[in-house]
Amino acid sequence: MPTKVIIGAQWGDEGKGKIVDILASNADAVVRYSGGNNAGHTLVINGEKYALHLIPSGILRPGTICVVGNGVVIDPEFIVKEIDSLIARGVSMDNLLISDRSHLIFPYHKLLDELQENFRGKNDIGTTKKGIGPAYMDKTERCGIRMCDLSNPDTFAEKVKANVEFKNLLIEKVYGVNGFVAEEIIEKYLAYGERLKPHIADTTKILYEMAKQGKNILFEGAQSSLLDLDYGTYPYVTSSHPAAGGVCIGSGIGPTMIDECFGVVKAYTTRVGKGPFPSELNDEIGDRIRERGQEYGTTTGRPRRCGWFDAVLVKFSVRVNALTGIVVNRADTLGSFDKVKLCVAYEKDGQITTAFPASLEDLAKMKPVYEEFDGWDENLSGCEKFDDLPESLQRYLRRIEESCETKVVMVGIGPGREDIIMVN
Ligand code: IMP
Repeated sequence: MPTKVIIGAQWGDEGKGKIVDILASNADAVVRYSGGNNAGHTLVINGEKYALHLIPSGILRPGTICVVGNGVVIDPEFIVKEIDSLIARGVSMDNLLISDRSHLIFPYHKLLDELQENFRGKNDIGTTKKGIGPAYMDKTERCGIRMCDLSNPDTFAEKVKANVEFKNLLIEKVYGVNGFVAEEIIEKYLAYGERLKPHIADTTKILYEMAKQGKNILFEGAQSSLLDLDYGTYPYVTSSHPAAGGVCIGSGIGPTMIDECFGVVKAYTTRVGKGPFPSELNDEIGDRIRERGQEYGTTTGRPRRCGWFDAVLVKFSVRVNALTGIVVNRADTLGSFDKVKLCVAYEKDGQITTAFPASLEDLAKMKPVYEEFDGWDENLSGCEKFDDLPESLQRYLRRIEESCETKVVMVGIGPGREDIIMVN
């Protein structure tokens, strides 16, 4: 299948980067289509750790074209630093392309993200404070400034001045803190523009031509379906469309050009930020999962909330993204427990349901209905195929398939590129 989408099917941090990196060995291009440097992928290659935020995971495969699509919001200072740190480790940037239609994150977006979060007080969303939401707000408000604007210094300067004038009013008059000097931003950003110039292109055209020629293209989701602006647990979501539908808008590839869509999940559930989480474990089991899985944010370092696998939530993801299969990561992390629980339904006021509610007030009232499984050994390193996995883990995975109404296509059994079992 030439065009494949890889998305997160829970609340993010499912280990998509590793799966994209594995599949990228056959890919001609890897494409990011949404989000910004709120995302973080950690890859372990030959024992070396790489934390990527904006640049697609395919960059570690020489020869693979890596595209940052138009749906991504880009902090140019950040991407220049990411490029430099990869170059310092010997990674080539020759194949990095950045969409000329992508929107820029400015310092006022980052400050406003923080000020808005502080203003929300106990109702804060728990954003990464990278300016993602305010940058997408400007995009829909139609005052956003794009990568292509950097190639025209005069109009770029005019646009920045107009935005800074308005943002300063908000920052100074509403929030009472110091605003920005437009000229300083303009000078810095035009320098970033020069630096990024060799990478900026009409990536929609390049991808369209590649898809027409039947090339293998991988679309790498950031965040996840449950953080999607429409399908996520609104308002505790990000401001873009990480769901599969976001691929078309965020990269310029039409729906008829997409062949397959895999959702990545962990063998348990985590989330950062706020919002109801029915299978959350606020006990020593949750702490043990966090420590075993080192469940701390790649981007913010925040401890992730941990809980049992929620099949109701993943079944919802399977449906709204029309997933053709799921990848279950971190089966090793869940090893060593005597018993493992799987949430197969919710109960509210004596009623059992497998429907995932829109209302967060309803979701907060849902009590998980669990099935219990025997645990398995944490060391799965000798396993090469599904049948090699401990029987209790096989039973657990088969029940996940049944309750989520999809098939398991891969199982992650460790952090490395080689620690993966292909199932179908
Ligand atoms: P924002 O994307 O920074 O606006 O944050 C909105 C919500 O999405 C918060 O709950 C964040 O913690 C969450 N979020 C954003 N990016 C990621 C990610 O890559 N993994 C997990 N959660 C994320």
